[in-house]
Amino acid sequence: MISLDSLFMLSVGQAPLDLQSFDCGRETVNNFFRNEAQTYQDELFGKTYFYIHPNNPTEIVAGFTVANASIFTKHLGNSRQKKIGYEVHHQKGLINYPAILLAQLGVDIKYKGNHLGEQIIEFVTKWFTNNRNKSGCRHLIVDAYNEPELIDYYQRNGLNLFFSTTEQEMKYRNWNSEKDGELETRLMYRDLILLRRNSLRK
Ligand SMILES: CC(C)(COP(=O)(O)OP(=O)(O)OC[C@H]1O[C@@H](n2cnc3c(N)ncnc32)[C@H](O)[C@@H]1OP(=O)(O)O)[C@@H](O)C(=O)NCCC(=O)NCCS
Repeated sequence: MISLDSLFMLSVGQAPLDLQSFDCGRETVNNFFRNEAQTYQDELFGKTYFYIHPNNPTEIVAGFTVANASIFTKHLGNSRQKKIGYEVHHQKGLINYPAILLAQLGVDIKYKGNHLGEQIIEFVTKWFTNNRNKSGCRHLIVDAYNEPELIDYYQRNGLNLFFSTTEQEMKYRNWNSEKDGELETRLMYRDLILLRRNSLRK
């Protein structure tokens, strides 16, 4: 198994990389890395990081994008609000919970089976809960493609569906199935507080 620690991490634009050869098997992600990641970063929308092969400084093994985000709870029902603000020490909880969005996660098909995706999810989780993080971040969010296998994959990696049914999610997102078709993505989250508390106990 390849460990993430054995790879070099660079942000987009830091060094010339062979973006054309990268293929994670999903064209939208490949395309984002090739054509949009730099602009996205220049516009301060989000940062893209690549893991580089130690023996080939232009070969991308995996990549991901992170952006600041929040979970807006005002229009959620009480039980869901409680779920999101679990153990908040404010009487009413917050209206907006700070979060980090993990977007465009991709592992090159040559390197699948090494649990790199899993290691990246763990890495990002720790990155945004350790003491060097400059702001607050309570949740990790993923907007996962609405495919049962992928949703299962994220669930196995500690993320939960924000809404249990697509109907609830369509309502929250103002999604009109007649006009917009099927829901393309499902919002998933992981509450980072437990991880933070566990790390403080050690
Ligand atoms: C999803 C993705 C990032 C996972 O990364 P990975 O490094 O290949 O996966 P891991 O090695 O961490 O996965 C471990 C397990 O999950 C399974 N798995 C991986 N991707 C899966 C998927 N898309 N659907 C279902 N299961 C998947 C693997 O089969 C493996 O199972 P095993 O341990 O029983 O053998 C990668 O497959 C990928 O780049 N997919 C295309 C891009 C994409 O869809 N990104 C998600 C955007 S929301």
